[in-house]
Amino acid sequence: MQLNISSLIERVAAVSARASGLLVAGERLSHLQRRLEGFIDMHGIVMLEAMVRKSEQGDSHAIQSLRNALSVNFTYFWRDPEHFQYLQEHLMTRLRAMARNNESKAKPLLRILSAGCATGEEPWCMAMTAAEAIRLTKIDATVEIIAFDVDSAAIEEAQRCVYNPEVVKKLPVHMRDRYMQPVNQRYITHWQPIAELQGMVRFYTVDLLAQSWPLCEDGARFDAIFCRNVIIYLSDSARIHIFEKFSSLIRSDGLMILSRVEGGINQAEPYFKPCGDSVYLLSAAARRTIK
Ligand SMILES: C[S@@+](CC[C@H](N)C(=O)[O-])C[C@H]1O[C@@H](n2cnc3c(N)ncnc32)[C@H](O)[C@@H]1O
Repeated sequence: MQLNISSLIERVAAVSARASGLLVAGERLSHLQRRLEGFIDMHGIVMLEAMVRKSEQGDSHAIQSLRNALSVNFTYFWRDPEHFQYLQEHLMTRLRAMARNNESKAKPLLRILSAGCATGEEPWCMAMTAAEAIRLTKIDATVEIIAFDVDSAAIEEAQRCVYNPEVVKKLPVHMRDRYMQPVNQRYITHWQPIAELQGMVRFYTVDLLAQSWPLCEDGARFDAIFCRNVIIYLSDSARIHIFEKFSSLIRSDGLMILSRVEGGINQAEPYFKPCGDSVYLLSAAARRTIK
């Protein structure tokens, strides 16, 4: 059988659209071509064709390998710092309100979701931000950060949580020194979140397009949801599914944060309304559905 890259690209695009709602057109198509060429350089075209064929037949292991091979995991610590500033102010306000209204004296819970967390840099920054909110308000709280991604290899790396200096370099030094510890690896100082942060974050593999996102649906709503640099790659119907899910998981006053490039997307309506650059609150209509 004669194998050629153009027919494989078409087949991969079709499988991706079916399995993950990924839109493969325009710039994304050339990106896909580069990823596939990279894969072929490493593993050969026969291996790629076998993976695509098994994916077409519904083999879940092959579909996962294809997703891992195609996902764009670019991320780094303290990406778009103003989002963490928003988050910190929001958490401090919430902690103060919980302390004022807390007649039972139960320890407050802060709950945050990182949807499309890649290799974990974003949720670790959320954990630092929550720790800062607790330190500055002097109000103790339990912090639970749920972080997921469709790419199981990225999630494994997030769980290993040892980062090279390049991805940490934008993190302000005082935050790095307070919340990360140096780890020597191959004569280079890498960085790892301190144990206190490691106790806050739970990672798992799930597709945003799945009907259920297990760890997220145990009843407690989220104070904030970040989904940055993820939906840009998805179809309109996939986005609607995701915003509907977010609206069912977030607190009535919770913050939903997208990336700057995704700001102004129409599919967030009628669930969310913008309240800042790439920052959203639940719409009045969606708020009314919360009991
Ligand atoms: C560019 S990274 C963004 C990481 C981080 N949120 C940030 O802004 O730095 C995009 C991530 O979204 C994930 N992703 C794409 N489609 C997804 C889906 N359907 N379900 C879950 N994660 C998805 C990719 O695997 C990738 O790790």
